Amino acid sequence: MSIPGSDVDDRFSRWIAGLEARHLSELTFREVSRALRALSSAYVERRATLDRGAALSGAGKRAAFALFYAPLHFLLTAHIVRHLPGACEPLVTLVDLGCGTGASSAAWATQVSGTRRIVAIDRHPWAIVEAAATYRAFNLHATTQRADIVTAKLPPGGAAILAAFALNEMEDAARDRVLDTLIDRARRGDRMLIVEPVAGFVARWWNRWRDVVERAGGRADEWRVRVELPAIVAKLDRAAGLRHREITGRSLWIKGKSRES
Ligand SMILES: C[S@@+](CC[C@H](N)C(=O)[O-])C[C@H]1O[C@@H](n2cnc3c(N)ncnc32)[C@H](O)[C@@H]1O
Repeated sequence: MSIPGSDVDDRFSRWIAGLEARHLSELTFREVSRALRALSSAYVERRATLDRGAALSGAGKRAAFALFYAPLHFLLTAHIVRHLPGACEPLVTLVDLGCGTGASSAAWATQVSGTRRIVAIDRHPWAIVEAAATYRAFNLHATTQRADIVTAKLPPGGAAILAAFALNEMEDAARDRVLDTLIDRARRGDRMLIVEPVAGFVARWWNRWRDVVERAGGRADEWRVRVELPAIVAKLDRAAGLRHREITGRSLWIKGKSRES
């Protein structure tokens, strides 16, 4: 693993060990790796069903998400925020839209000294419970909210807003409403980070969003990161035939104008 600071390394290892213990207590490794294959094909081939919550339907897919994709999202997001100028400056409130198991916001918060609070929002009840467990594992103070990203009441300004691997699950009109909100918040000083896969199904809306973000003073990046995968992630990767030799992703980032106090 390549997260600087032994404390973060320790917390990351403990988080992975806890995930493994919990999710492999009720399902066998074979069941989880089979579910991972189904989940990965749902991400790649059946995007249209995701806005109806298909990705997290069933215990196997949920375990596969928590044990496989969430650690990858953690590692990628930690790498991204370390490399984006201004992303690791102290922040008071981190809002995570579509938090899932909380991996990406936990990753960002662990790279910043003194994040006081995470506000984690997801519509899926399992995700909310799982996210709370993740934040506990990292000793992060967080409140969770079961709500839709479009209609959720966000904390007042002076925040960093993250949406990682979530917006691609939304319908176009709903996603565009979120973009309007995020750009408006960034213009008023909030930091904004969107992370998505480099896959073709994202490209359909990405370039237009990139143009809007760049006009608002932000930037777009693509990432390709070689990391040593945690043992359970590498084992699932092999068993499901996915071959993640490197983690890839793309991001849209606006640093915001004012700093929080
Ligand atoms: C692929 S997961 C990503 C989770 C997490 N952000 C990460 O980086 O690992 C997508 C999450 O977005 C949530 N989601 C998708 N559309 C949503 C919406 N309209 N409102 C709230 N949550 C949503 C799903 O329930 C799921 O937990």
